[in-house]
Amino acid sequence: MNNLTAKQLRKLWGEFFSSKNHAIISSASLIPENDPTVLFTTAGMHPLVPYLMGQKHPRGKRLANVQKCVRTGDIDDVGDDSHCTFFEMLGSWSLGDYFKEDAIKFSYEFLTGKKYLGIDKNQLAISVFEGDSDAPRDEESAKIWLECGISLKQIYYLPKKNNWWGPPGLTGPCGPDTEMFIIRGEKCSSECSPACDCGHFLEIWNDVFMQYNKTSEGKFEPLSQKNVDTGMGLERTLCIIQGKKSVYETDVFVPIMHAVSTFAGGHTLDDKSVVRSMRIVADHIRTAVFMIGDGVIPSNVDQGYILRRLIRRASRFAKQLGVDFSNIKEIAKVVLKVYNDDYSELKNETLIISEIEKEVQKFEKTLTKGLSEFEKLCSYLAGETISGKAAFKLYDTYGFPIEMTQELAHEKGLKVNEEAFHAAFREHQKLSQAGAEQKFKGGLADDGETVIKLHTATHLLHKALKVVLNDDTVSQKGSNITSERLRFDFNFSRPMTEEEIRKTEDLVNEQIKKSLPVTKKEMTVDEAKKLGAVGLFKYDEKVLVYFIDGFSTEFCGGPHVQNTSELGTFRIQKEQSSSAGIRRIKAILE
Ligand code: ALA
Repeated sequence: MNNLTAKQLRKLWGEFFSSKNHAIISSASLIPENDPTVLFTTAGMHPLVPYLMGQKHPRGKRLANVQKCVRTGDIDDVGDDSHCTFFEMLGSWSLGDYFKEDAIKFSYEFLTGKKYLGIDKNQLAISVFEGDSDAPRDEESAKIWLECGISLKQIYYLPKKNNWWGPPGLTGPCGPDTEMFIIRGEKCSSECSPACDCGHFLEIWNDVFMQYNKTSEGKFEPLSQKNVDTGMGLERTLCIIQGKKSVYETDVFVPIMHAVSTFAGGHTLDDKSVVRSMRIVADHIRTAVFMIGDGVIPSNVDQGYILRRLIRRASRFAKQLGVDFSNIKEIAKVVLKVYNDDYSELKNETLIISEIEKEVQKFEKTLTKGLSEFEKLCSYLAGETISGKAAFKLYDTYGFPIEMTQELAHEKGLKVNEEAFHAAFREHQKLSQAGAEQKFKGGLADDGETVIKLHTATHLLHKALKVVLNDDTVSQKGSNITSERLRFDFNFSRPMTEEEIRKTEDLVNEQIKKSLPVTKKEMTVDEAKKLGAVGLFKYDEKVLVYFIDGFSTEFCGGPHVQNTSELGTFRIQKEQSSSAGIRRIKAILE
């Protein structure tokens, strides 16, 4: 087996697939562009869904890349030998071009070829789909593997649970797959197969034969073209070829783990009592760095909420290890050093570090008090369940994400009344919304009016940016309004041109001149999503949607003017960078 570094492996992957006439494409952002049902890109195929469904890809029918992915579903397993919330996926695709035969032969050559990974073919095991009412038993793949030189006893037939992949969201392309495993150590029993997680079979690569579309009724319809989607986890592959027990011992993680251990006062990397916590800190900070690099900032909604959870969870484990909070950003700097040659979106180091630092500082202020509040709460607890109200207090006053309270409770064998937490959350939302409206309607007439006008102008600006920049993924990342000006943050990777700024102003002013009525309606999140409303809040069941007739549809607590004619003239004063991948506009009404 050839021992390669991460850099060498990425390069070899590109060279191999280039030699097979694949175009090498760059990694897409971690934030999916076309799929509102999923927060992050979870696999290399995710950004390619339209092309798997039949749209023509500008680079052709054969593609390969290294894709950044985030999967947080297994967050509780992070810290074992193989789970990470962020990973790089080496991927290759045939978009209606070659199918099983070439795909399997390419896989075999890359795995066993002396110029490539050089794995002994006897160390491999293969699984193929055993067949069911949706798709037939995959004898074809098994036959191709036999032709390659794999023996019958190395091939396992497994059901849908093991040998079917996709879709990444609720609907979309998917199909049976054939998976490749490395055999290590002894079988746990005579029944042991690649379906067993004892560690004898380590998955290295997956070739998915994407020929079905899963519909919203759960049916599998044949796609117009037969595709191949392959994915090889970079970290797991490094673990195998570098002969390590854990991904956290491979060359991408070693410097990060060393930093954590140094700041934790010199725990050795094989100190079993703390290694899980050290891995959690290393993993979460690594993921946070990549998320911020792609424009996410900590917040209470959507991607920003996951980022906040990761930074706060890392901080809690860092505290347990004795890492000074001011050193968390130093760990992030090491992450940047490992990756910034290969990922240009990480070049804006100052901004990435400052977002992490700000979030850690925010949390630091309340963590100690919050933990002692939690302890107190547990000591008074009559039963085994922490009330929703108490969990909400930990969230609201001490910044504990609900998942953190649940985790702390779990460590003590306690539960949290999650439903009651969400109810308390909604109640609080309603009260603060009523409070804000009250304030606007009350004595602050002058200030209030300007603020309300700027607020409506913000909705117009939000929509105008999507139109002028011709990018529907451009969306609000933050907003702040005073009686002087509005401030609006949005994700966009470069400064706007003078012309774009002028066009945005013009488009907003056109809507003002059109005297559009502004109306609102209460509806469920689903209804609002169907209408394409933007800015939805995670925990609300019912939301208020504001319509600026024919132009903008946006979830919002209000208040707003009744007609855009009340606004005056809109002018952008400044367009500048706010943080990595985030632009900031300051604008006024004259
Ligand atoms: N999309 C497939 C996977 O993630 C290749 O395993």
